[in-house]
Amino acid sequence: MCGIVSYSGRSNALEVILKGLQKLEYRGYDSVGISLISGSEIITNKHVGSVSEFSSQISENSLQNFKSSCGIGHTRWATHGKVDLTNTHPHFSNNKKIAVVHNGIIENYLELKTHLEKLGFSFYSETDTEVIPNLVQSFVDTGMNLIEAFKETLKMLKGSFAIAMVTSIEPKKIFIAKCKSPLVIGKNKGEFYVASDANALLEFCNNFLFMEDETYAILEYGKQPKLFNFRGNSVKVNFKKLKLTAKQVSNKNYDDYMLKEINEQPEVIKNIISEYLSDSGFKSEFLNLNKKDFKRIIILACGSSYNAGLLGKYWIEKFAQIPTNVEIASEFKLRNPVLKKSDLIIAISQSGETADTISAVEYAKSKKCKIVAICNTPESTLDRMSNQTIFLNAGHEVGVAATKTFLAQVAILFLIAINLAHNKFKKFKIEEYLSEFTKISDKIHETLSFTSQIESLSQKYAHFKNFFFLGRGLAYPLAIEGALKLKEISYIHAEGLPVGEMKHGSIALIDELFPSVVLAFKNFYFDKTLSNALEIKARNGKVILFTDEQISFDSKFIDDFLTLPQVKFDMEPFVFIVILQLFAYYVAKKLGRNVDKPRNLAKSVTVE
Ligand code: G6P
Repeated sequence: MCGIVSYSGRSNALEVILKGLQKLEYRGYDSVGISLISGSEIITNKHVGSVSEFSSQISENSLQNFKSSCGIGHTRWATHGKVDLTNTHPHFSNNKKIAVVHNGIIENYLELKTHLEKLGFSFYSETDTEVIPNLVQSFVDTGMNLIEAFKETLKMLKGSFAIAMVTSIEPKKIFIAKCKSPLVIGKNKGEFYVASDANALLEFCNNFLFMEDETYAILEYGKQPKLFNFRGNSVKVNFKKLKLTAKQVSNKNYDDYMLKEINEQPEVIKNIISEYLSDSGFKSEFLNLNKKDFKRIIILACGSSYNAGLLGKYWIEKFAQIPTNVEIASEFKLRNPVLKKSDLIIAISQSGETADTISAVEYAKSKKCKIVAICNTPESTLDRMSNQTIFLNAGHEVGVAATKTFLAQVAILFLIAINLAHNKFKKFKIEEYLSEFTKISDKIHETLSFTSQIESLSQKYAHFKNFFFLGRGLAYPLAIEGALKLKEISYIHAEGLPVGEMKHGSIALIDELFPSVVLAFKNFYFDKTLSNALEIKARNGKVILFTDEQISFDSKFIDDFLTLPQVKFDMEPFVFIVILQLFAYYVAKKLGRNVDKPRNLAKSVTVE
């Protein structure tokens, strides 16, 4: 899993590749490496850490003085082999003439390694990637030209891969291939740019060719691109102009992107309103569905997007009375689920590149289901494969932990639910919900004003090693999301549970060192939730209560509580999520974590 960039042109390849890699760091930031070609030399530099660290070091090292207009680069999220320099891409053939970067997993690499070892090849890294340049060399050694050798190599690889290769044998050419992992070619005045996504290249070009699966290409500055399928047949080269523009973001005025993005949430709601709503209700482009088109909805997603989907299920079933399942995308196709043409798929993915979600959607497409995507990234893989995409319009999210994009997903799902309900039931009071929705931005603003209280609360609890997050109804998916936020940025163990389930086992874990964050909505079984909180207190557990009920609690009963702004019944998640994000953020800050780039994670996980 990783991001790859390649370039063949007339400018400084180092600059182009570094800029591209910076944009691809959402795919991994364990380590970074670049190989540049000049004459018959390949110069490589690698670094364990982020692209910006690598860039700032580069002025002191050999790459900087090395003029090249052809090369490859890679930003890694480790799959095979630990995070160290040896496993950092590019990887080389034994004769050092072939360098390769790779995104994906070569599933049969052990078999290929054994085959190559029998031919006398040695391996220096623990990666699956290293078999690729060596396979190419093994074919070249038999007298094949590079194109043939590349094609023969591709035929032997099983799994998912996007590859870019440069060689000192044909120093001006880049060789690229795609099978399941995304790869896009950009073109501008005879120059060629390659990357894992188009956004990485927007600064340089706006003509793109999204490679199809099982195709490969040979690109060279000033020459016609050559594109083939894996059988070796020529494929039509069709570049299209995209309207996307490069956007620069900075975390000016904030310590981190995450805090900035949490604070952008009132704006996110305003953007959604201006994009999809008019004075008379929904704009026609919001959801192009004929209600007879489907009988059941299946939501597919991973991570925070899955948690947003759980909120969507609640609203769609309650308001529109349409049976809705939410499926963890990585599990979905494994059980050969029963899908009918009349099932509508809602695929949720901020990045539109999550391999598990894409693979689940592919399965649904093979069953002829209609796909509606909820996504933040135009021209992403998910966007291109769906019948309709409802964009989040949340702006670029840099922090790895989803905050403003989670809120935007939740908002879109809420709007879908009331839109479907309105189409189905004449009596559904959509105006009431829409009018309340227009006030949500202000309510989030109000919630953000609790920042100093939540900061001191978080500091009080940051030393605990375990947390429960508990709620019922709509508060249950929020509890899972609250726990996920805390886990991913603070590295504290946290579990989100339906509060009613505590007594069926998990309450056994409760003692004075295991606090619970309880979410209690005034209008939804408040008394029952409070009773559950007291059951925890009765066992010496600490309770932090977030509620919108205007009552005070004695500290004998509840250790800490915050009373949040009230909103219309069923719209509570819009304010409660903000407080959970702030809680996780300040706990992580107290512990000195890098909240924007937590360890071991990537913003978009592009391997299954
Ligand atoms: C990764 C990220 C999560 C995200 C999940 C799904 O695991 O770290 O924050 O929720 O992927 O990403 P997607 O782009 O599909 O929404």
